Amino acid sequence: MPASAPLHFDGSFADWKRVARAALASGVAPQQAHWRDAGAAQIELALDAPAPERIVPLADPDLAAPSPRVPRAFLDLAEDVARHRDPARWPLLYRALWRLTHGEPHLLANPADVDTHALHTLAKAVHRDIHKMRAFVRFRERATEAGPWFVAWFEPQHHIVEANAPFFRDRFASLRWSILTPGRCVHWDPDSRSLRFTPGASRADAPADDAAEDLWRTYYASIFNPARVKVDAMLAEMPRHYWKNLPEAALIPRLLAEAAPRVQRMVARSAEQSAAAAPTPGELEGRARPPATGDLAILAEAAASCHACPLWRAATCTVFGEGPREACIVLVGEQPGDHEDRVGKPFVGPAGRLLDRALAAAGIERSACYVTNAVKHFKWEPRGKRRLHATPNAREIAACRPWLEAELAAIRPGLIVCLGATAAQSVLGHALRVTEERGKKLPGPFGASALITVHPSALLRLPAGIEAEAEFQRFVADLRQIREVPDARPSEQLPGSPPAST
Ligand code: URA
Repeated sequence: MPASAPLHFDGSFADWKRVARAALASGVAPQQAHWRDAGAAQIELALDAPAPERIVPLADPDLAAPSPRVPRAFLDLAEDVARHRDPARWPLLYRALWRLTHGEPHLLANPADVDTHALHTLAKAVHRDIHKMRAFVRFRERATEAGPWFVAWFEPQHHIVEANAPFFRDRFASLRWSILTPGRCVHWDPDSRSLRFTPGASRADAPADDAAEDLWRTYYASIFNPARVKVDAMLAEMPRHYWKNLPEAALIPRLLAEAAPRVQRMVARSAEQSAAAAPTPGELEGRARPPATGDLAILAEAAASCHACPLWRAATCTVFGEGPREACIVLVGEQPGDHEDRVGKPFVGPAGRLLDRALAAAGIERSACYVTNAVKHFKWEPRGKRRLHATPNAREIAACRPWLEAELAAIRPGLIVCLGATAAQSVLGHALRVTEERGKKLPGPFGASALITVHPSALLRLPAGIEAEAEFQRFVADLRQIREVPDARPSEQLPGSPPAST
C-alpha cells in the first residue's frame, strides 16, 4: 500500500510552490499527494486514492536540498493555471512538476500529452477571463466627501483579480476606484498610489446605477449595427455569464429582435437609391448593345462604354476578354477583381495566378485559350481602404450577357469552361450547383460543351480542415478534360467577322 501525504497549504500559488518543493524533496509521488487547500474548505482531491497507511514525513522546505530545476515556462504556465477555479489544478501541477523532474524535462514541448494539454486548457480559460474582465468591468460613480469614487461589480470565473489589478491601475491611474468581486476586491487610491486588496464583497455593496448610464446605453444603441449582427460570434465574445452586470446588456434582446426589420428597411432604402442611380433608358439604348461583328477588338472597344447596369460607375474600366479569336477553348470567370480592374485584363491577380498554375499542371497553354468573365466590371464594396469583391446579382449578370454571347459567337469554341456558379449561370442561362455538376460537360451555347468546375478563388479561401493540395489537384483534373477537345470548331462565321487567323 502506498503511503499518503496530506499537503496543507494556504491556497496561494506561492504556498503551493513551497509545499510542492518540500514534497518533491521528500520523494512524495503524485499519487501519494493529497492537496489540502485551506482556502477551498479542505477539498479531498485524490478521492480514489487508497486509504493512507502511513503518513510521509515532509522534508523541511527551508533545509531541503537544492530547489528542483524546472523550465521558466513551467513556472509562468503554473502561475496562470493556479488562478483557475478547478480544484484539480493542484494535483495536476504537482504531477507535471514531478514528471519534469523525473526524466521528462521536455514534457511541455509535447502538446499531445494529456497533462500538458490540460495545463494549457486551464491557462487559456484564465487568460480569457482576464480579457473579459478588462472588457466588461463597468464603473459607477459614487459621490463622497473625498470626491468621486468609481465602483464596479464584477463576477470573474477564476482567481484573476490580482493578476488584472495592474492593468486597471495603469488605465485609471488618476481616479479613485474599487472593483468588487465575490472572492476578492481591489482598490486604488491615486493619492497614496497604492493598490489594496480586501476579501470578497456582495453585489449590494456596489452602486446599481449612475447618472452616466443612460448616456452609455444611448451610445451603445446608436453604434449597434443590425446588418452586422452575428449572434453566435457575439455570444462567443460576450458570453451570457457577464451580461447581468453590463448596463447595455438589457438592450441586447430588443436590439436583436429589431435587427431583421431594420435591415429590411436599410435594404429597401438602398434599392431605392440604386434605382435612382440606375442608367436611363437613353443610356441603355445607346451604349449597351454589342455591335453585330465578330471582330473582338471592335467588341472590346464598344464594351468600354457599356452602361447597361450601374457597375460601370464604381469600376476603373471594362475588363473585356483576351485571347486568340481562333481559340477552341473559352474560359469564363465571374467578374474582374481588384487587380484586373486596375490593369484592364482578366485573371491577372491572385486567382489568375492560381488558374495559370492549374492550367500548366493540366498541360494546357493559357495563351491558346480565350479568357473572359461573365460580368465585365468589378463589383466591390469599400472596407476601410480596401475594395472587397461583391457578388454580381442576376440583373447585372443578365445585363452583361450580350457581351459574353458576342464573344462566344465570334470565337465559336468547342468547349466553354465555366469557372464557378456565376459563369455557369451566364453561359447556360440558368443557375446550378457547382458541387453537384462539377466535372460534367453540359450542352452549351453555339454547339459548344460547357465544362463545369470551381472558381480558382474558391481555392484561395478554403475552409479550415480542407486540404489545399488535394483541392488543387481536383481542379487540375477538371481542367485536364480540356485536352479531350478536338481542335476543330464549327465553321459558320457571324456577319462582319474578320477571317480567322491560322
Ligand atoms: N476572378 C474572376 O472571376 N475573374 C477575373 O478576371 C479575376 C478574378
